[in-house]
Amino acid sequence: MLLKITALPGDGIGPEVTDEGIRILKCVAEIFRHELSVSTMPIGGAALLASNDPLPEVTLKECLSSGAVLLGAVGGPSFDNFPRHLRPESGLLRLRRELGVFANLRPAVCFAGMEDASPLRAEIVRGTDILVVRELLGGIYFGEPRGTQGSAPDRVAVDTMRYAESEIERIAHVALELAKGRRGKVTSVDKANVLDCSRLWREVVTRVGRQYPEVNLDHMYVDSAAMALVANPANFDVLLTENMFGDILSDQAGGIVGSLGMLASASIGGRVGLYEPVHGSAPNIAGRGIANPVGSILSVAMMLQHSFGLEKEAAAVTRAVSGVLRGGARTRDLAKPGQAALSTSEMGNRIEEAVRRGTGQEVAI
Ligand code: IPM
Ligand code: MG
Repeated sequence: MLLKITALPGDGIGPEVTDEGIRILKCVAEIFRHELSVSTMPIGGAALLASNDPLPEVTLKECLSSGAVLLGAVGGPSFDNFPRHLRPESGLLRLRRELGVFANLRPAVCFAGMEDASPLRAEIVRGTDILVVRELLGGIYFGEPRGTQGSAPDRVAVDTMRYAESEIERIAHVALELAKGRRGKVTSVDKANVLDCSRLWREVVTRVGRQYPEVNLDHMYVDSAAMALVANPANFDVLLTENMFGDILSDQAGGIVGSLGMLASASIGGRVGLYEPVHGSAPNIAGRGIANPVGSILSVAMMLQHSFGLEKEAAAVTRAVSGVLRGGARTRDLAKPGQAALSTSEMGNRIEEAVRRGTGQEVAI
């Protein structure tokens, strides 16, 4: 099969971790005899500095003509005071919209042997295997009107949370379908005691849920879901939620399983799938070769599965990651004081070796 990929390394640690994702793609292509073509394009702050556009037209065109997109990270403190349309993040949001990827899947798994990397007690975090299904193209991220009016000190800023029934319906189907292949449970998270958007959300999700009698659907308010996630993370299976709640709760899930550096994501449902680690550009550690590449490498596994239907190949990557972690390999974000920490490329190398050996234990993503 031809694996035609656009790589968007972006800012901060994006390029370092994307290199390791591409290394694993090359290794998989070689072992399973696929043809790999990777074209690397600018996005985010790097693109802004070069062409004054965080998502240049050439980048978007290349993404639209490829089989899948692998992104690193965008953003950095030097862009904090740029107007909204000239911020690196605007490039990413536009890319998601142009690709039409409304369903964002973010698995948070506590791998065997990794319990002690969590800030929670081992007996609480053990067995945690959550799939956050985040709606990605609606809600307060995209609603109109928005903007800031007036002049200081009397300015007023407005953002609009907006959801159409059809947007809720399609993401509910994704979550309920995915639950069938897992433990059959969906927790839909909203703020229906306060927000109209959430009341509509709950009503539509409940209605769609009736089409899935085999799935156990329940609802939680976002505040109590945040508490339950920390108190009892292993109780969650699929966590379905809207755009902003999903942004927040997925970082929290990353913290629970030990490091945001572990979390991968797939954004699907549109013309071309977009795969990116959940962590940001981490400017404080950029360029030092110490970032955790697992989020990017597991994003590659999700790409193999969701964009190319290559289940065996995807499983080979997740098996390699879990095997290497079980064997004690740790990047700096995961290492205990006094424990040796691997560099970004050493971690990538260990995982590549494990893919080649075909060892480890399979983990569903
Ligand atoms: C994420 C990020 C993005 C988001 C930013 C960089 C726009 O935090 O993917 O979680 O808010 O969606
Ligand atoms: Mg986020």
